[in-house]
Amino acid sequence: MKAKDYINALRVYEPGRPIDEVARELGFPDMAEIIKVASNENELGPSPMAVEAMRAAIPEMHRYPDGGAFHLKHKLAAFLDVDPTQILFGCGSNELIVFLSHVFLGKGTNIVMGTEAFAVYFLAAAMYEADVVRVPMPGHLHDLDAMLAAISPKTRLVAVCNPNNPTGTAVEPAALDDFIERLPGHVVAIIDEAYFEVMPEALKPNVLRHVREGRENVIVLRTFSKAYGLAGLRIGYGIGHAGLIGLLNKVRQPFNVSAMAQVAAMAALDDTTHLVETREMVAEGLAFFERELPRIGVQTVPSAANFILCRTGRGREVFAELQKRKVIVRPMDPYGLPDHIRITLGTPEQNRRVVDALRDVLP
Ligand SMILES: Cc1ncc(COP(=O)(O)O)c(C=O)c1O
Repeated sequence: MKAKDYINALRVYEPGRPIDEVARELGFPDMAEIIKVASNENELGPSPMAVEAMRAAIPEMHRYPDGGAFHLKHKLAAFLDVDPTQILFGCGSNELIVFLSHVFLGKGTNIVMGTEAFAVYFLAAAMYEADVVRVPMPGHLHDLDAMLAAISPKTRLVAVCNPNNPTGTAVEPAALDDFIERLPGHVVAIIDEAYFEVMPEALKPNVLRHVREGRENVIVLRTFSKAYGLAGLRIGYGIGHAGLIGLLNKVRQPFNVSAMAQVAAMAALDDTTHLVETREMVAEGLAFFERELPRIGVQTVPSAANFILCRTGRGREVFAELQKRKVIVRPMDPYGLPDHIRITLGTPEQNRRVVDALRDVLP
């Protein structure tokens, strides 16, 4: 067997550990006692309206999905005030990152991204043998001027995760507008807004305005995985110029988004109660951690998302010790932050358990 050399060299993404896996490994008989705050999921659960819609859709599951997602696309287009031709769905917004890499990256090209930005951009670029230009992030924040300065004739993509995962930081909306205005025409900007729905209003940019105004080289990525609580279904989307969306559609498998995911997403869009409750839980969780963590000597990074990056020291050890206390968080050494862990903002009870366990673990 002789795989391609660059495939042999690829690194495998390390996801948040599933509860079931931790229970098996550490011999915990009752999985219900374990909390997982490691993947920025919605700890309120899925939208109840989505759950109801999925139940009703079960008898139709012998059919292939509508690959074009007609109904969802039209509903979402009206919701976002864009044309349906400006939207493409993926198996999570992750798949949109792969589509973009497939279409734009190859040997001799590069993507510009932050040193502490979402790892899938890096991994997808490697899958297409492209180079990655990593731009330092002072104060854990994207440096948009430095990112523009790092663009060369070889650059095809520049990714701004806003808020960024795992840092939680968001750039000033006006700075993002300025970045998009100054972007050279040969580069596509990916503005990854996976956490848009839970962002504080004052930090919410209006990147869609650029798409509505016809800018060809900007795509916004969003997802149903986070605020809508549908991570297990795998559905996200990109919003961009119809020409760009058309290109991405060429590398999409015919049935990349399941029928169940489409049904659930349609219903979740209507579930404003669930969304409001989610925002409240996130805001409450953030206030709690920002108050409690410094009291136990843990520094926090300002967050505009549903998680918080914090400096505990010895991140991987702390992660392992918390796991023994039935709390799963995420160590941050893969992001070059060996002293940090990332905690998803959960319910008040979960948040309390995380802080209690941390207090127990820290010297
Ligand atoms: C910044 C960012 N982009 C994209 C994703 C991918 O989300 P999904 O594929 O579930 O839509 C995530 C998930 O953690 C993320 O944090």
